[in-house]
Amino acid sequence: PARYRSVHFQQIKDAGGKFAMLTCYDATTAQIFDHAGIETLLIGDSLGNVVQGQNSTLGVTMDDMITFSKAVVAGTERAFVLADLPFGSYEASVEQAVESGIQLVKETGISAVKMEGGIEYAPHIQALTAAGVAVVAHTGFTPQSEHVLGGYRVQGRDADASTRMVEEALVLQDAGAMMLLMEMVPAEVAAAVDQALTIPTVGIGAGNGTTGQVLVWQDAFGLNRGRVPSFVKKYADVGQVLSDAAQQYREDVLQAKFPNDDHSF
Ligand code: KIV
Ligand code: NA
Repeated sequence: PARYRSVHFQQIKDAGGKFAMLTCYDATTAQIFDHAGIETLLIGDSLGNVVQGQNSTLGVTMDDMITFSKAVVAGTERAFVLADLPFGSYEASVEQAVESGIQLVKETGISAVKMEGGIEYAPHIQALTAAGVAVVAHTGFTPQSEHVLGGYRVQGRDADASTRMVEEALVLQDAGAMMLLMEMVPAEVAAAVDQALTIPTVGIGAGNGTTGQVLVWQDAFGLNRGRVPSFVKKYADVGQVLSDAAQQYREDVLQAKFPNDDHSF
């Protein structure tokens, strides 16, 4: 089957449908998620946390995004693949954003970039889109701004949050964003934004009113041994499966049960 394109997500929204997005950082996992039917894979700068073991996304570089994005694109046939513009690659100017967006698409084969930020980034979205780079806007809690926002916390809890976030989202849509991602906002605010927009939305910790949902796969499938946010549903305990397999393998080696004749030349 042909690869998903931005127009397909617009069709899904127009038809009142839903779609799934997962993060992904390597070709092996990408192939599994692609075959499972996941419509969109995101090389998130969350790779700083889950792949590189850092406690924020701030140190992730363009080179990191290029390395992992290439791997995910290589592992997919069908999924729409997008990647984050990392901290420091787009904020300084519209020109910087366009250069980084073009580089990421050109060197990796991804179909869109995701960029954190509100109304102040409308000119960047407009210029990227004009240059041929599809943009997914990311609002609500934006982890790259954790030092300004004062830590990981739900955004848009104030009384006029709905009106404000709808107005902001409309500006980003007008600028040309193909999709809007909302992170950690109240469910009714995210639902109001989805209803006000014609473009599809995707949520993480944003309730059930968005067009799509996204989760960090290590969180959702039980690979993350640390703290998992409360908005994550745990679908599997892959970490336990891996741990059991590693222990069994070690036992076999120590007891000289592996390899046997079947696994020897
Ligand atoms: O980096 C990431 O994985 C993300 C998602 C959590 C939306 O931006
Ligand atoms: Na991210």
